[in-house]
Amino acid sequence: MPKVLVINGPNLNLLGKREPDIYGSQTLEDINGKLAELAKELGLELDFFQSNHEGEIVDIIHRCISGIGGILINPGALTHYSYAIRDAVAAVGIPCVEVHLSNIHAREEFRSKSVIAPVCLGQVSGFGALSYILGLRALAEEVV
Ligand code: DQA
Repeated sequence: MPKVLVINGPNLNLLGKREPDIYGSQTLEDINGKLAELAKELGLELDFFQSNHEGEIVDIIHRCISGIGGILINPGALTHYSYAIRDAVAAVGIPCVEVHLSNIHAREEFRSKSVIAPVCLGQVSGFGALSYILGLRALAEEVV
């Protein structure tokens, strides 16, 4: 069964409590549970990783070289400035889809730029938890 790693960046461990008017009331566990259900339907095996540290995210992306067929990532604020994560995604050459709960193009100007999206298959932004579901469906087209 193809394996996908779901990566969440800084502050996404606080989902449910964090600015619920922007990010919704679902916790990261709720979202991961929904992804796990969908993965069964799609014939994918999922692993989950969350970190508030850029270097740890770079390290886990490197480890994807052995055995991970796809990456679903919400890099959080790192989306907007982490050339290290962008380069890691490009270096491993594993299909990657970027997702965001909020519509990053409809908020502060600094959020509208993703330095990671150009090395991803695509980006899903603005649909709350559904962004992850749509992102996984899109990734499955490439990975399964
Ligand atoms: C986010 C958008 C980012 O700008 C922000 O820093 C986050 C969450 C989202 O999912 O909407 O932490 O990635």
